[in-house]
Amino acid sequence: MKLDVCTYMSKFLDSDLVTKYLNRKEEVFQKLSQANMNGWLNPDVSFCDDILKVRNQVLSHSKCLVVVGIGGSFLGAKAFYEMFSPYFKKSSFPVIFAGTTLSSNYMKELLEYLETIDFSVNVISKSGTTRETALTYCAIKKVLEKKYNSEEIKRHIIVTTDPVKGTLRDEVNKEGYQSFIIPDNIGGRYSLLTAAHLFPLSFCLDIKELISGYREGLGLKEEAFSYAVCRRSLYDLGKVVENFVTYENNWYYYLEWLKQLFGETEGKSGKGILPISMIHTRDLHSLGQFVQDGNKIIYETFFKIKNMNSCNIEGKDLHEVNLVVEDSVISAHVSGNVPCIVIELDEVSPRSIGQLSSFYFLVAAYSGYLFDINPFDQPGVEVYKAEVKRRLG
Ligand code: PA5
Repeated sequence: MKLDVCTYMSKFLDSDLVTKYLNRKEEVFQKLSQANMNGWLNPDVSFCDDILKVRNQVLSHSKCLVVVGIGGSFLGAKAFYEMFSPYFKKSSFPVIFAGTTLSSNYMKELLEYLETIDFSVNVISKSGTTRETALTYCAIKKVLEKKYNSEEIKRHIIVTTDPVKGTLRDEVNKEGYQSFIIPDNIGGRYSLLTAAHLFPLSFCLDIKELISGYREGLGLKEEAFSYAVCRRSLYDLGKVVENFVTYENNWYYYLEWLKQLFGETEGKSGKGILPISMIHTRDLHSLGQFVQDGNKIIYETFFKIKNMNSCNIEGKDLHEVNLVVEDSVISAHVSGNVPCIVIELDEVSPRSIGQLSSFYFLVAAYSGYLFDINPFDQPGVEVYKAEVKRRLG
């Protein structure tokens, strides 16, 4: 992975600001090393063999897996699943992600569909109290109860939750369901290397490769800090929106994952950079106008992939064309006073994206400390939850 925070940045950055934030390195590194929610810096993955065993068992009796979770208990798995699934060829064992909506139309169709097939469900909630997850799981469990007896059901339900507390853990203890844990010291959006994501992902990719890449990414502390300093300095210059840009359609959910990581980590106490995303070239024909020519509140991070499958059209390799377009857009946006950061990957693989992901955990945590906020809570999310509770109980 190559991070470039210089080439398209030097004309924008203010050296005094950069120095001011660079000087906070020791303090920021120390804060992270002492944080009580930093379990993702050294995650225990000794449960991987259990994951593979349960996966094989599910494959032997089910035709699909329904994953129920939301936010940090959903986006990482969904992002990798989309990125590493073929665009058109249907998987022989699909993973359905549910629990992210209260739409009755969606739920009705889902339940009707599940009535017709053998499936297993993996419910994922650290707190065990998230309404969308709880309602969806409750409805899906009723379908299972119609199909299987109580002994069979135990092979069709896998619960991923807190090791000791919460309603889901109580249910596991009472019913004897199979379960995995989300450790106490790892919050939802930082839980990529827990069973919350590794179990669903074991159905579509080599999780050991993802884990290796993740460990490599944690070594990129200096690079991650430079990125955080660059973001923080741009914010002081009025660049309060970061646009994550991909040229690959199947990165859509990966950018959603990044938006959640930064939105929940940084957006608090009236501060923070608003993360948005665009897929090019599609969005060049819509929001591209705003980026090039509109309010100058945006800077961008472009993901560039060196090697992709080759596809020759009229004597030209399409990926080379895509890269030329990407370089052209960067030049155009820089000329329109939009600072650009570039992250280049040699290829897209579970390993390279694992590396990119833990690198981004570092960037998010460092950025949080540079904003003098706690990178590991999300008090704003609790506000709507409390209001819903007041109305619905
Ligand atoms: O990142 C976070 O902490 C949140 O997005 C949570 O993951 C999300 O609210 C779901 O919480 P839970 O896993 O407790 O159901």
